[in-house]
Amino acid sequence: MIEISSNIENIVYLFSASLFIIGLKRLASPNTARNGNRLASLGMLIAIVLTILKYTDNNIEWIIIGIFIGGLLGIVLSKYVQMTAIPQLVAIFNGFGGGASALVAIYEILYPRETITSIFVLGAIAFSTALGSMTLTGSSIAFGKLQGIVPTRPILFPLRNYLNFLLLILIVFFVIVMTIPNFSSLNILYILIVLSLLAGILIVIPIGGADMPVIIALLNSYSGIAGAGAGFVLNNPVLIISGSLVGASGLILTRIMTKAMNRSLANVIFGGLGSEDGSKQTTTNENKLVKSLNTEDAAMILMYAESVIFVPGYGLAVAQAQHQINELANILKNKGADIKYAIHPVAGRMPGHMNVLLAEANIPYNELKDLDEINSEFDSTDVAVVVGANDVTNPSARTDPNSPIYGMPILNVDKAKSVIVLKRSMASGFAGIENELFFLDKTSILFGDAKDSIEGITREIKNLDNI
Ligand code: TAP
Repeated sequence: MIEISSNIENIVYLFSASLFIIGLKRLASPNTARNGNRLASLGMLIAIVLTILKYTDNNIEWIIIGIFIGGLLGIVLSKYVQMTAIPQLVAIFNGFGGGASALVAIYEILYPRETITSIFVLGAIAFSTALGSMTLTGSSIAFGKLQGIVPTRPILFPLRNYLNFLLLILIVFFVIVMTIPNFSSLNILYILIVLSLLAGILIVIPIGGADMPVIIALLNSYSGIAGAGAGFVLNNPVLIISGSLVGASGLILTRIMTKAMNRSLANVIFGGLGSEDGSKQTTTNENKLVKSLNTEDAAMILMYAESVIFVPGYGLAVAQAQHQINELANILKNKGADIKYAIHPVAGRMPGHMNVLLAEANIPYNELKDLDEINSEFDSTDVAVVVGANDVTNPSARTDPNSPIYGMPILNVDKAKSVIVLKRSMASGFAGIENELFFLDKTSILFGDAKDSIEGITREIKNLDNI
């Protein structure tokens, strides 16, 4: 332990917190995200080193062993976890964060440094214990669902909403009881822990696998709020600030996702929606005809297009066609075409899903345009190529008040001069509804796996070039 004045401690913590905030800001753009991540990590390192120097007088070897094991796990995970497995990794990290905050709070009750009389500190302890425990089990279930260990379909048991409501009321009651100073019964603490662990499981288990990203963002926020609570318990400003940042950003992300899906958070939590992998088979109205085309036709259309917008969706992730899109786009660019990518905020199955896939194929960031930027450009675009996207292009979100996605902002693909859709069948997307876009006169469907289809188009363009 080194003597460090509380002024210097606060200044260093403030510096760390500033690095978190700048880091978070820089995460907002793919161009600056890596640097933002490094800055935030540096802030964390500074805060940890200061805390160890100032507060650790014994058991340093345990801390070093912990850092070593955690660091090693982090390196291995970052090297070997597949991009598509990031949501469950985030889920389990949230769970550990929540669990750690709960342990800090529980430790303070079991082994208090001095008798705790402040209602505020007791409240922070009870709050962190409850929210941290709930986050631990809720995130573990979310991890299990996405990893396929727990059934991904919504598990709907009778009276679940009443039971969950009752559990939450009981948790609030025991949190309040725990704030009564000199309340000596540890049994209350144990009851609170058990109820909170149970609530985490029961709240997440009825939610479908495909809705998990929204819940993970929410649990991420909870883990931050529990962390901020632990910061109040330890009277540690950097933990309070970082916990609040995680709490607020998780909530903002949850809001962005539910808004882009045109669902309320209550509908996600209580709705029990979301099929196993999100894609459902619907019977297509047999009176409607779809136009199909082959790779040669698609190649001819694209070869003469001056402007092309690729519209990626969940099918791009399934087909893993990002490198093939890049190759095709480069060929078209060499022919003088203007290429852009339209990114819907909830295309795919996790936030930033399309950005991550396209970045993996080194597609330039400046060609990725979000919904607000690109929507006005469709009507002046020659060809929109829909690569495994469905719901995010469905015009019924604009026109049909009875549609379950009515009001969801969509990409105006139907306004492009012509549309090529790459998909395997007439199956619907996550929302399980028919897409009017597929039946428009200007739309042609190239049936097949998106990767095979794009490879086929690229081959045909090369062949036609050689003639
Ligand atoms: P979806 O509407 O789910 O449609 C995906 C389409 O991809 C399907 O129509 C499917 O048709 C096609 N597909 C699947 N595998 C393919 C392959 N190998 N090759 C070619 N096509 C393939 O996807 P979207 O447009 O990206 O919309 C996302 C949906 O997920 C929205 O409803 C959104 O609300 C929801 N959601 C998103 C998130 C986040 S955060 N992104 C979270 C939860 C829910 P075929 O089977 O006929 O090929």
